[in-house]
Amino acid sequence: MRILSGIQPTGQLHLGNYLGALQNFVALQETNDCYFMIADLHALTVAHEPKQLAQNTRELMRAFLAIGLDPKRSVLFVQSHIPAHTELAWIFNTITPLGELERMTQFKEKTEQSSSINLGLLSYPVLMAADILLYKPHAIPVGEDQVQHLEMTRSIARKFTNFYGKLFVEPEAILTKSTSRVMSLQDPTKKMSKSLGPQNYVGIFEDEEIIKDKIKKAVTDSGSEVKYNPKAKPAISNLLAIYSMISGMTIPQLEKRYEGRGYADFKNELADAVIKHLKPIREKFQNISDDEAAEIFEKGGRKARTEADAVMKVVRKRVGLV
Ligand code: TYM
Repeated sequence: MRILSGIQPTGQLHLGNYLGALQNFVALQETNDCYFMIADLHALTVAHEPKQLAQNTRELMRAFLAIGLDPKRSVLFVQSHIPAHTELAWIFNTITPLGELERMTQFKEKTEQSSSINLGLLSYPVLMAADILLYKPHAIPVGEDQVQHLEMTRSIARKFTNFYGKLFVEPEAILTKSTSRVMSLQDPTKKMSKSLGPQNYVGIFEDEEIIKDKIKKAVTDSGSEVKYNPKAKPAISNLLAIYSMISGMTIPQLEKRYEGRGYADFKNELADAVIKHLKPIREKFQNISDDEAAEIFEKGGRKARTEADAVMKVVRKRVGLV
């Protein structure tokens, strides 16, 4: 099966990105034909410092390799290296109703948070549809927050079929069950994200002491039992889901392990488990040079470009560009 996904280079990767998406990428590449991309063009939609963006992209290349993405199994590339993405996005812009874009939850949230909204933010899901449809993947591993954008991708594929005939495949989302939505450590009603502030997330390359401290200070629920119940105990349930994904133990096994023990013990051991799990990834990250990573992504880019260009040739013909 062909799989594709992408991540924006917006700074530190956190446990939400890792458990919601990246960890799944590594498992999927074993038995699938995978394409993984750094979505640097999407990162331009928010205010950024150019040097910082370039550095974030280089770090994310190294992070992809450090978590175990293997260029022998997966095509690893940078979105902006393939001009076909923006070209197809333009064509999709012309068949996408404005009203559908204005209804996207992420766009509405961003509009509420800021008074200066650029056009890129609105057409963001159109570029994402181009990223995906160009490579005709069957499935897209993402966190829950991207599911609505995937629906949009499917809708754009159908519209293209209506206007110009069938060409694209409508892909399905692949969600990681318990961690498709990792919540903030400080507010378990909000998804873990950097924009909530440093205490809300655990960065996978942060100092061990900082990770420990953040997990220790994570909010808990009333009572003292370590029980999975997302409605009644949202904070503990989130920590249990993280613990389970990190340790490989099931949630019932973890509940049993912490029976009769308090939250403090649970959080201490969770912090140790997170640190232990991340250790080899962090070491590998330190040992990969920017140049090594850049070379791998150049090569992946060449492969992706060949495929994307072939699809664009057909698209141009279908839409009447000569
Ligand atoms: P981005 O960069 O915001 O996030 C990368 C991946 O991490 C997932 N994620 C989470 N999962 C669980 N819990 C969380 N708290 C959490 N926070 C983030 C996201 O769902 C995502 O899977 N638009 C995309 C990037 C993109 C893309 C694509 C993805 C561009 N083109 C094509 C798939 C296919 C984005 O901004 O993800």
